[in-house]
Amino acid sequence: MIRSIVESCGAYLPERVVTNAELAGRIDTSDEWIVQRTGIRARHIAADGEFTSHLATKAASQALQRAGMTPSALDLIVLATSTPDETFPATATAVQANLGMTRGAAFDVQAVCSGFVYALAVADSLIKNGMAGTALVIGAETFSRILDWNDRGTCVLFGDGAGAVVLKAGQGQGTAADRGVLASTLHSDGRHHDLLYVDGGPSTTGTSGFLRMQGREVFKHAVTNLAAVVGETLSKAGLEAKDIDWLVPHQANKRIIDGTGRKLGLPDDKVVQTVERHANTSAASIPLALEAATSDGRIRRGQIVMLEAIGGGLAWGANIIRW
Ligand code: UT7
Repeated sequence: MIRSIVESCGAYLPERVVTNAELAGRIDTSDEWIVQRTGIRARHIAADGEFTSHLATKAASQALQRAGMTPSALDLIVLATSTPDETFPATATAVQANLGMTRGAAFDVQAVCSGFVYALAVADSLIKNGMAGTALVIGAETFSRILDWNDRGTCVLFGDGAGAVVLKAGQGQGTAADRGVLASTLHSDGRHHDLLYVDGGPSTTGTSGFLRMQGREVFKHAVTNLAAVVGETLSKAGLEAKDIDWLVPHQANKRIIDGTGRKLGLPDDKVVQTVERHANTSAASIPLALEAATSDGRIRRGQIVMLEAIGGGLAWGANIIRW
């Protein structure tokens, strides 16, 4: 059986760090409120002229270099973003050109904060059915560009960044002992549009719009749906929560991450958290956290890594990987 094996990770965060204290100097908020309600202390914000494709290219280059792979060896780029450079073409094609990759295919996936989970499932499917032997899966966002900086209920929550992984086709036995992506689960429920959306777009207002969120309502759906989708994905792989070595959740809110970890019965030290330093970087949050936990040696070859996310749509999902 073909398996998509993770070869390497890469990450990029814009240079500029904005602290809660800096935001408190501009709007009616406080470091105390933000830390207590979300766990966030700082976020990175892209510079003027620094686009999603630039962030993505830097993360991708690092992942490729760590995999010892040239761009010409890639068959596929799947880039998850809700903040593309332009309405079209796909930001993935800008990354393809920046990397100097002149063959294969590159396209975007749009599932907001669940984008990386979706993109990984798509790339894994294309590898499994033989359409690609190697793939770059990227999550990249410049959410700072779609924030209403006067809305304290949302603008303190998000940040910019990019993360990437390189996947390579390998052979497995079709059991949970295989290395690679073991199972994925994707869900959405469009009835919850109004809980989290951007109030603009090319076919409606003709503008790119600003992010609008009913945070408390999204929160209510988060822990329940995330614990359920993790359970569903574990059972597809024939594994149990106790088999998880690392939970690498979407980084929206420390309280959601802690709540999901508790519901799964996982100790805190098995849950990777970057929300404090990165805030919510939407589709970039999981690959950024993966890069952090592989670079510092926490995630090691052979371990079971569970990814999960929920966001606008509502769309949610999970992937389980043997590293
Ligand atoms: O990644 C996509 C998925 N998104 C999420 O997972 C986000 C899920 N939701 C959340 O993380 C939380 O709901 C928030 C962090 C967004 C908000 O936390 P909360 O505990 O649900 O607070 P709230 O929205 O119910 O607001 C509580 C109070 C309100 O004041 P009143 O009406 O009680 O007087 C807000 O006006 O906090 C006030 N508030 C603030 N105060 C200081 C809202 N934002 C701020 C702020 N600073 N930045």
